Amino acid sequence: MALEPKPYLQQVSLRDDLEFDFEAFPLSLPAVRELGTLEFHPDVTFFVGENGSGKSTVVEAIAVALGFGPEGGTKSVQFRTADTVSSLHAMLRLIKSFRKPSDSYFLRAESFYNVATYMDEVDYLKGYGGRSLHKVSHGESFMATISNKLRGNGLYIMDEPESALSPTRQLAALSAIHKLVQDESQFIIATHSPILLAYPRAKIYQFDSSGIYEIDYEDTEHYAITRDFLNHYSKRLGDLLEDH
Ligand SMILES: Nc1ncnc2c1ncn2[C@@H]1O[C@H](COP(=O)(O)OP(=O)(O)OP(=O)(O)O)[C@@H](O)[C@H]1O
Ligand SMILES: [Mg+2]
Repeated sequence: MALEPKPYLQQVSLRDDLEFDFEAFPLSLPAVRELGTLEFHPDVTFFVGENGSGKSTVVEAIAVALGFGPEGGTKSVQFRTADTVSSLHAMLRLIKSFRKPSDSYFLRAESFYNVATYMDEVDYLKGYGGRSLHKVSHGESFMATISNKLRGNGLYIMDEPESALSPTRQLAALSAIHKLVQDESQFIIATHSPILLAYPRAKIYQFDSSGIYEIDYEDTEHYAITRDFLNHYSKRLGDLLEDH
């Protein structure tokens, strides 16, 4: 069997050669404590789960362990506006491919504004289509990044890339992701989007109070609840908004 270059990041697990405090954040989060070994799909790996289940904590730790700044951007963007980076990155063991990706980006919705400000300050906008990311809308700046900045042969880490995107742009993002996957790229994406999650060349890890486990698309709450609501919204609204 020929050696495959992807996934560039193959596995992540907690280091077993160090002693950790399992009572303190971030190991106090069940999903982090029970992280086990995450094996990444060569194309796309999704993290899903309730708000607060630990997706961003794990995504950030993976990104920082790979050499990204905690607020996102390319690896040359190294700044932080708040000292809230967890120590998890130092507790992880990463197993990587023999081949390094030639491109990489950490797209983080929560701090994308700060990356845009940084880009203005250092006057580096060429790769983003030439316009200040502050002079286009939030969703437009996200799409400019996905469409212009990512070159392929890349490892891309994203935290809620859908947050600024209309449904139409989420579909456009799916097709941009697919094009990059065909160009030898790997994605790791935390998301709440039932549209993005439908991408078929993917593995979905669900974060919950008992740990992290693999789940099929149609078994995710995102799929089931969205589908149920849209199919029966009058009845569901009636139940939800009923006077008690
Ligand atoms: N620096 C910190 N110190 C203590 N607790 C923290 C810290 N950062 C995050 N937490 C807590 O850890 C939990 C997980 O946060 P995280 O941001 O990883 O969740 P998430 O799964 O990404 O949620 P969401 O879907 O809302 O983005 C939250 O309850 C949060 O309050
Ligand atoms: Mg999050």
